[in-house]
Amino acid sequence: MHAVVGNCHIELAEGDVTKQSVDAIVNAANARLAGGGGVDGAIHRAGGPSLMQETREKFPDGCSTGSAVPTSAGDLPARFVFHAVGPVWRGGRTDEPAKLASAHTRCLELAVEHDCDSIAFPALSTGAYGYPLDQAAEVALTTVRDFLAEHDRPSLVRFVLFDAGSYGAFARVLEEMST
Ligand code: APR
Repeated sequence: MHAVVGNCHIELAEGDVTKQSVDAIVNAANARLAGGGGVDGAIHRAGGPSLMQETREKFPDGCSTGSAVPTSAGDLPARFVFHAVGPVWRGGRTDEPAKLASAHTRCLELAVEHDCDSIAFPALSTGAYGYPLDQAAEVALTTVRDFLAEHDRPSLVRFVLFDAGSYGAFARVLEEMST
């Protein structure tokens, strides 16, 4: 499924974000950039040890929640990995939507700064961090749409959803946005 915003495309795919041939792959990292399970584990396994080495050298203080930092992509089929830190869901009491939105916006800014025309996001915060899928999909897709409406890059933003449930949640929101 996909939607057009100006000259750009938002695309939904079911699958593994580490397999995407795009300019930049987004990691669902933690603020210490310490690695972990889920997307983070898969990205570091597929990318190889150079990713963690570069992350430690360049960002010893980690990355704040709601932001993202760039590294090269090691063995992944991309030029960059943007390590984004989404919020832990605490019932909506700690400004989670704004933090989730800014994590996406920062990745899109990094894409522009690094001349990336295509970027693949997982569903940030919806696994270990417990963000309700429907609400995360709404924040992620509206944030990307609003960014693309004001910039003409990256021309492809792909959300790579790991299972049918998360694909369905994103598809419902994208369909509503397109009507
Ligand atoms: N490709 C795409 N999506 C994936 C993949 C994959 N290879 N693996 C898991 N997912 C999905 C999950 O099903 C979930 O919907 O990505 C979403 C995000 O899940 P997490 O990876 O758990 O990310 P998040 O909720 O942001 O939690 C981040 O988990 O692994 C740790 O170090 C990480 O502490 C950080 C926290």
